[in-house]
Amino acid sequence: MSNHTYKLLDGKATAEAIKLEIAAEVAAMVAEGKAAPHLVAILVGHDGGSETYVASKMKTCQEVGFRSSLIRYEDNVTEAELLAAIARLNLDEDVTGFIIQLPLPKHIDEQKIIEAVDPRKDVDGFHPINVGRMSIGLPCFVSATPKGILELLKRNQIETRGKHCVVLGRSNIVGKPMAQLLLHKASPGDCTVTVCHSRTPNIKELCLQADIIVAALGVPSFVKADMVKPGAVVIDVGTTRIADPTRKSGFRLSGDVCFDEVAPLTSAITPVPGGVGPMTIVSLMLNTLQAAKQ
Ligand code: GUN
Repeated sequence: MSNHTYKLLDGKATAEAIKLEIAAEVAAMVAEGKAAPHLVAILVGHDGGSETYVASKMKTCQEVGFRSSLIRYEDNVTEAELLAAIARLNLDEDVTGFIIQLPLPKHIDEQKIIEAVDPRKDVDGFHPINVGRMSIGLPCFVSATPKGILELLKRNQIETRGKHCVVLGRSNIVGKPMAQLLLHKASPGDCTVTVCHSRTPNIKELCLQADIIVAALGVPSFVKADMVKPGAVVIDVGTTRIADPTRKSGFRLSGDVCFDEVAPLTSAITPVPGGVGPMTIVSLMLNTLQAAKQ
């Protein structure tokens, strides 16, 4: 039975509400004579997606009253130069937290860069210390995308306890942490979790058993109507750029879910854009605020 009365999980509106809460906290900090949090982003090269994400992060800092700085390098930056920049930021007491926008050029060892960041300033939550703490439910910085999804579920009163959640994708940034967070004895959480990926033979059958699907494969329109159980909740993490000459930008964003055919089957679904994306950015702000407090 399809119900046609699905709830649109409006990440943009939810993120706006959280931004107001952060702004109020920052204003209170500043009124007490404390410094406003300062987020620094390192951006290497000119990848269109990375440029857009970093610009959006810097703009959001301004909206919530954070200070922000952007450090740019060209594609030919050396690993040593990046490591030196990270060492400086680790020691700089005026810097609350910082991120290195991924992906990095091929000649740079991404893992080495991630591990060079002081875990106390690792507001992306990518350092193995934060990943390990997250995996056993200790206080830490949680990767922004899964953190944003949990907050979106919570603020929209989506029940997760006892539900079967199918996570599509096993990336270190989204799929793996999402699966672990939903598994935790917590709210949101308490799910039975299945993780599917490119080598899973029976994805359709597994998806049909899901109460909640988190699609984070980066394959446009992967989730079709015949994979979704009526009444399921569908979270679409996909943001693939598809060439579209009718747009001023020359592209549009495609989610991992065939929204038009899947939405009427669901009880709740995120749009792309305006779903997970804004929640991810606001989660980075929440992590930076957390760093400022500790
Ligand atoms: N690339 C894709 N997602 C992210 C993210 O959350 N943080 C950083 N630094 N790079 C990314």
